Amino acid sequence: MPPHPPIRIAINGYGRIGRCFLRALHASPHRAQFRIVAINEPADLATIAYLTRFDSTHGVFPGKVEAEGDYLHIDGNPIHVTHATTPEGVNWKEHDIDLLVECSGRYTGRDELTRFLDAGCRRVLLSHPGQSAQDVDLTVVYGINHHAITGGERIVSNASCTTNAIVPVLDLLDREFGVEHALMTTLHSVMNDQPLIDGYHHADLRLTRSAMQSMIPVATGLSKGVERLLPQLKGRTQAKSVRVPILNVSAIDLVVSLRRDVAAEDINRLFSSAARRAPAGLLAYSNDPHASVDFNHNPHSATIDGSQTRTIGPRLANLFVWFDNEWGYANRLLDVASYWRACFAKNGR
Ligand SMILES: NC(=O)c1ccc[n+]([C@@H]2O[C@H](COP(=O)([O-])OP(=O)(O)OC[C@H]3O[C@@H](n4cnc5c(N)ncnc54)[C@H](OP(=O)(O)O)[C@@H]3O)[C@@H](O)[C@H]2O)c1
Repeated sequence: MPPHPPIRIAINGYGRIGRCFLRALHASPHRAQFRIVAINEPADLATIAYLTRFDSTHGVFPGKVEAEGDYLHIDGNPIHVTHATTPEGVNWKEHDIDLLVECSGRYTGRDELTRFLDAGCRRVLLSHPGQSAQDVDLTVVYGINHHAITGGERIVSNASCTTNAIVPVLDLLDREFGVEHALMTTLHSVMNDQPLIDGYHHADLRLTRSAMQSMIPVATGLSKGVERLLPQLKGRTQAKSVRVPILNVSAIDLVVSLRRDVAAEDINRLFSSAARRAPAGLLAYSNDPHASVDFNHNPHSATIDGSQTRTIGPRLANLFVWFDNEWGYANRLLDVASYWRACFAKNGR
């Protein structure tokens, strides 16, 4: 029996990350801590049930999925489904929500996020960064600063998937060798904000181009995200992001200038030993000859590919970091929810 009754969870926006979060929770040994009681998603219930059962990236759902009335049943447990596009469009109070996991990506400012609290949710966990650090009570990368959660927060951001992948790497490099400058290039699998063939996008010309035909450089807030977590690197990082035509799994090509002389072997030794000590699921290390698909459904925030570590001159290094942007990230959302729950459950819900 868990030490506290399960907390009541809602998912707002049941797309790639919302559905991966439900799956990660279903697969988790800690699932008795949580009960998903509500999902709010514009799509109709039959499609929601269908995409819960069948997933082109992560396979067939291992539990029983049924749709009936306004409810999605997972292994017989009912989840009330609504289709609102505003925080006030759902009667959250009726569902007594301890934690809303916001996975639509539509709400980033404090004013709009507070609307969920005003509408009856006790807390909001974001699957993306806040517009600024001040728009949320805390931005967390699990394994780096989750101990800063006190339980008193109302809005917490789980940062981005790329921030979760690169911050543990930069943090370790900085502590061991000192990071002077860091240049990060993310190779990111396609997302649902891209069309399959050319189509209109109202804010970004590059997102008008066929996702499956091109590598497409897109805007990224990674540098800002890194500096939010590692303020000592402020003004010393830069980032680019390229969407690549694969369904899932991403990588970061990291170029760092360091403050001490290093060889590739020193870097690999550092990360292989850190991976052995890291809590399960956070940091991994491999020397195998990988292709990206090897990391599909991998729960780690980051895997250092030791076969790709290079140095030139005494202090310039290049690392390659793999991560499953969906499954790794959904598992970190769950880790943060679990840690936050332990903090606030002590003082009642
Ligand atoms: N995919 C990744 O690898 C990844 C990793 C980490 C973080 N994230 C972040 O997580 C967020 C979601 O990404 P995603 O890839 O899961 O996107 P997605 O697949 O497009 O899912 C978002 C879902 O939210 C729905 N939605 C739109 N407006 C809504 C509203 N007002 N209320 C409730 N639901 C609404 C969308 O419906 P419509 O399609 O009808 O608009 C869609 O089904 C983004 O902020 C993204 O940056 C994504």
